Amino acid sequence: MKVLIIGAKGMLGQELVQEFGGNGYEVISWDKEEIDITKKEDVRKKISDLKPEIIINAAAYNAVDKIEEGEKDLALAVNGYAVGNVSEAAGVVDATLIHYSTDYVFDGKEIDGYKENDEPNPESVYAESKLIGERQLKNKKFYLIRTSRLFGKQAETEGAKKSFVDVMIKCAEEKDCLELVDEEFSSPTYVSDLAKRTREIIEWKKPFGIYHVTNAGGCTWYGWAKKIFELSGKNVKLIPVGADRFPRPAKRPKYSLLLNTKLPPIRKWEEALAEYLKTK
Ligand SMILES: NC(=O)c1ccc[n+]([C@@H]2O[C@H](COP(=O)([O-])OP(=O)(O)OC[C@H]3O[C@@H](n4cnc5c(N)ncnc54)[C@H](OP(=O)(O)O)[C@@H]3O)[C@@H](O)[C@H]2O)c1
Repeated sequence: MKVLIIGAKGMLGQELVQEFGGNGYEVISWDKEEIDITKKEDVRKKISDLKPEIIINAAAYNAVDKIEEGEKDLALAVNGYAVGNVSEAAGVVDATLIHYSTDYVFDGKEIDGYKENDEPNPESVYAESKLIGERQLKNKKFYLIRTSRLFGKQAETEGAKKSFVDVMIKCAEEKDCLELVDEEFSSPTYVSDLAKRTREIIEWKKPFGIYHVTNAGGCTWYGWAKKIFELSGKNVKLIPVGADRFPRPAKRPKYSLLLNTKLPPIRKWEEALAEYLKTK
């Protein structure tokens, strides 16, 4: 089966290429050099020529604070309206489209978390752009997968961001004491687990619609860092602080657990983290 992966050089994209390629699919990997999803006509032509049966859109612009500080147009174009271009093109060739969104579309007031059909209420420009993207899914055959706090092998593109796990490992080489925000409760998610679950959703022929896919459980940034250092045997003193200790341009949800009511749970985030740390 022919699968087109867009954003194939990103953190999730490269994992999707491995996952689908390793399981017998014919994988076509496109990133910015091969397709700019903001260019409607180009997207329609390239996808019509290729005729994939499955399209996975892992392309995005994720610089949450930069977006808040002045890159709104770029965010709306890539995360928002470009999703409509891909969705329309998917409709033309009758392909199934998989697209990803974020826990940040919720306002973070629900201590117990958010179900798939709960009403989003974005509180940052990034989140607003991702919600516009969700609403651009117009072809009939789509899976919208919301996820959170990705970690895994760093993307190989120029200027690729390190995940929180890699940032913490680097910090431990330079500092023996760190202040960490003990707020903003959500689920760290290993990209390998997300890529595998994406394939399973397709292969299990789940009904089209919205899915929440994260590793099980949740933590604050402080809780996450504590586990990273414990599992990697690094001796770093951690001081829990409030979010107001490090003011950032974009507002983050205080509680944004994504409740999964439609799929079997994935292993706990601590277990996935331990596996990832073994690769470091
Ligand atoms: N990372 C997280 O913690 C997180 C959390 C929740 C949800 N998500 C969602 O999960 C998905 C995957 O995220 P990720 O962290 O793997 O992203 P990523 O590493 O930033 O990868 C995104 C890829 O898309 C490419 N791209 C950007 N603009 C494009 C365009 N106009 N046309 C084609 N390709 C373009 C990027 O290229 P350049 O790098 O060259 O720009 C990059 O290779 C996204 O939908 C994201 O919003 C991520």
